[in-house]
Amino acid sequence: RKHIQIAIDGPSGAGKSTMAKIVAKKLGIMYLDTGAMYRAVALKAIKSGIDTKDGDALAEMVKDIDLRIVYENGAQKVLLDGEDVTEEIRTPAVTVGSSNVAVNPAVREKMVELQQKIAKENSVVMDGRDIGTHVLPNADVKIFLTASIEERAKRRYEELREKGMLKQTFEELKKEMEYRDINDSTRSHSPLKKADDAILLDTTGFSLEEAAKVVLNIIKSRL
Ligand code: C5P
Repeated sequence: RKHIQIAIDGPSGAGKSTMAKIVAKKLGIMYLDTGAMYRAVALKAIKSGIDTKDGDALAEMVKDIDLRIVYENGAQKVLLDGEDVTEEIRTPAVTVGSSNVAVNPAVREKMVELQQKIAKENSVVMDGRDIGTHVLPNADVKIFLTASIEERAKRRYEELREKGMLKQTFEELKKEMEYRDINDSTRSHSPLKKADDAILLDTTGFSLEEAAKVVLNIIKSRL
């Protein structure tokens, strides 16, 4: 294989996307936020009046979904039916919906197909839940990032606040994270799980800079 594959998995708020962006920049390769794809599916469902738990309707809906990931000045943009939905997919309703649609096997198969196509054509750092276990089982480096629920909720809260995108109280945000943690790790199709050959990194008590140093060292030693 001529392309580099780096898989970063873990629960929400563990710092995966921050880490993946740092790694991608350092190595000069593409970053793919796979969570954004499930979020776009949820947004489409909500806009079409489809229940995010209605498996049959979702399966039909994703058959011909027009979902494209493009890059503008190095930042990932998500185009859904030609419309830029990069911001819109970050609302609380879409966040919970994304975890619901992600249970659906037809949705997952469609997303994985798109993700594997991107990895076939490019060197990538992908972040998600099932990258090391399912999407890129032969990735060159697999990292499983986690942190305590309290710390993950705090980080996400701060991040949303700084971006002016905060729409929930801390407690609501933490509850939403707990809901997704359980939903994502107990579904039967490719649940959130550390791959056997992934390196586990618990970043509780680490600053993102410290965690990034560790991640970059792991990657350097493996490539
Ligand atoms: O990473 P992010 O929080 O944006 O992901 C949103 C949701 O998408 C997750 O809660 C999870 O249910 C789903 N997801 C997934 N597999 C991935 C990435 C995300 O099931 N590879």
